[in-house]
Amino acid sequence: MADGIPIEITGLTKRFGAVTAVEDLGFTVQPGKVTGFLGPNGAGKTTTLRVLLGLERPDAGTATFGGTPYAALPRPLETVGASLDASFHPGRSARNHLLVYATAAGIDRSRVPAVLAQVGIAEYADRRVGGYSLGMRQRLALAYTLLGDPGVFVLDEPINGLDPEGIKWIRGFLQALAREGRTVLVSSHLLSEVQQSVDDVVIISKGRLVKRGTLASLELDAAPRTIVDSPDRAALVAALDAAGLEYTEGRGGLIVAEPDPARVGHAAFVGGVELSALHRLKSGLEESFLSLVGGGDES
Ligand SMILES: Nc1ncnc2c1ncn2[C@@H]1O[C@H](COP(=O)(O)OP(=O)(O)OP(=O)(O)O)[C@@H](O)[C@H]1O
Ligand SMILES: [Mg+2]
Repeated sequence: MADGIPIEITGLTKRFGAVTAVEDLGFTVQPGKVTGFLGPNGAGKTTTLRVLLGLERPDAGTATFGGTPYAALPRPLETVGASLDASFHPGRSARNHLLVYATAAGIDRSRVPAVLAQVGIAEYADRRVGGYSLGMRQRLALAYTLLGDPGVFVLDEPINGLDPEGIKWIRGFLQALAREGRTVLVSSHLLSEVQQSVDDVVIISKGRLVKRGTLASLELDAAPRTIVDSPDRAALVAALDAAGLEYTEGRGGLIVAEPDPARVGHAAFVGGVELSALHRLKSGLEESFLSLVGGGDES
């Protein structure tokens, strides 16, 4: 097995014409853990991973494996196992697909039956992939990432389309890889989907980093709070400061560390501030996630 290497993203910006898909993004992914790369549809997850894997050129910044860009890795398949979209030639079998990739990368053919067994599709190995279910294709994509026994895994939405049994299986699978000291980065647009699989989270919204830390730190953020906003944000900030209320900036307003909206409303009243929003933020991990990325009912 290859060593786990940290993934390092620094000041990354990627534009497509007028669309800024990723903006000044920076985070590190450590070996020995499963890291969830989270954000709603269109947040820039796939774009970030495509830059990391050398499929897109960034407008600014770097994305490397311990300082080395993907294109400069001497034996890429044996360093990084990557799956971006599970598209396979429908007429070929899983075994043939993997044999082609193994041969091209100079990897021993004996790895092919080994990885097919590891992901639980050995019995379908000689079937045409065109007849595979989405879950079986997801497993084949994982088998491909395992071919070179790499120390780093970069997986774009690997849980999408799996049934509950498949989700349970992949959870154990990802955690076993991390326990062996590998680096595991897994994207998802749903926190609930990866919540039980990840140790760390990196959350992006509209191409920008909104949160990174342990899953436990996100749970801490999930205490009941109040969302408040005003046409005059500066006046609102002054009123909250005057009342000694702590807050962070959310997409749909200021998120105040106070469970009772009436107390926040009173602080605004005292400061003579007009409000455009005032309500309680439901507690819970998913709500905390949604308040960070601007979904849910406070956006
Ligand atoms: N090749 C491209 N040309 C133009 N715009 C693009 C291209 N690729 C991505 N984008 C835009 O960049 C933004 C980020 O897209 P991206 O696919 O990275 O998001 P995502 O977080 O992976 O979303 P999803 O959860 O839907 O997979 C979107 O606005 C998207 O429309
Ligand atoms: Mg995507």
